[in-house]
This record gives sequence, structure tokens and C-alpha cells, in this order.
Amino acid sequence: MSEAASENSRVFFSTDREIDLYELEELCDAVGWSRRPLRKVKKAIQHSFLVVSMWEQRGATRRLVGFARATSDHAFNATIWDVVVHPDFQGKGLGKALMRHMIKKLRSEDISNITLFADPQVVNFYRGLGFMADPEGIKGMFWYPE
Ligand SMILES: CC(C)(COP(=O)(O)OP(=O)(O)OC[C@H]1O[C@@H](n2cnc3c(N)ncnc32)[C@H](O)[C@@H]1OP(=O)(O)O)[C@@H](O)C(=O)NCCC(=O)NCCS
Repeated sequence: MSEAASENSRVFFSTDREIDLYELEELCDAVGWSRRPLRKVKKAIQHSFLVVSMWEQRGATRRLVGFARATSDHAFNATIWDVVVHPDFQGKGLGKALMRHMIKKLRSEDISNITLFADPQVVNFYRGLGFMADPEGIKGMFWYPE
């Protein structure tokens, strides 16, 4: 776990997967994401390679303020999903800290190819962390059921 303290609260990261799914749903609701079936969210968390949650601790109260997870082949590649910071906590460097934590953990597993799918409005957030769009012209391609 790593921490950033301010006044009487502190923010820390955890890789524990035992996250209250309703609390995670609330966090995702707060940024306007559409709801997903909790049983599938649970499965996605269970089968992720890395899950990082970010918590604010104030006295005895703990609040989920950020989340990200990565899937991986455990050797070469990892893809980061569901990066979110609660609006009350945005713009304070916590999203950057969360992503750096993810990258550090993935690098410590010797994963060298880290990818993600950026929503258009956050491309520059990821650029600031060293992510490149379309390196060497490579395009992300998608297939969706009709
Ligand atoms: C994107 C998100 C995770 C950023 O978290 P945050 O805690 O606000 O970001 P930070 O305060 O750590 O910002 C880090 C840097 O990125 C910049 N930044 C933050 N959000 C940005 C955005 N939407 N577009 C461009 N730059 C952004 C900041 O200005 C800051 O720049 P600096 O290092 O030069 O000061 C957060 O806004 C969020 O959860 N958004 C809603 C969910 C979402 O869109 N997730 C991504 C899906 S792909």
C-alpha cells in the first residue's frame, strides 16, 4: 500500500479484490458510466491480473475514491480498464498517482506492453503519463455484435 496524506485524511492504494460492488457502482455512477450487471463486474474483477482501488481514510471511515484494473497474458501484455477517480477527488493528481501505481505494479511483473482504450476527452490525461495514440500508425480495432 502507498499513501498520500492531507490534513486529517489520507489516501491509500490497495490491491485487495474484496471490493464492495455497490460502492464501486456508486463510484462509476458518479462519473456517469452506464451500469453493468454486478455479477459480470465481480467476474471481471476476479479474472483481472491487477486490481487497484484508491481509498480515503478519515478517522475510522473509509471511502472508495478511485479504481483501475488490468487484464494480462502474464508475460508480455497488459491492458488497463475502468480508470476512475470520484469527481470530488479529481484534479488533485490522484488519477495520475493511480495510473503510476498501476504502471509500477505491471512493470514489477516485467510486463512491457501496456495498452488502454482512452475515451476521447481523456486522451491528453494519458498522454501526460507517456501513453501514445497510434504508435507507428497501429490502430486499435474493435468488433461488436450486431
Ligand atoms: C480521467 C481521470 C481518471 C483523471 O483523474 P484526475 O485525478 O482528475 O487527474 P489528475 O488530477 O491526476 O490529473 C493529472 C494530469 O492530467 C490532466 N488531466 C486530468 N483530466 C484530464 C482530462 N480529462 N483531459 C486532459 N487532461 C486531463 C491534469 O490537468 C493533470 O495535468 P498536470 O499533470 O499537467 O497537472 C478522472 O477525470 C476521471 O475519473 N474521469 C471520469 C472517468 C473517465 O473518463 N475515465 C477514463 C476512461 S478512459
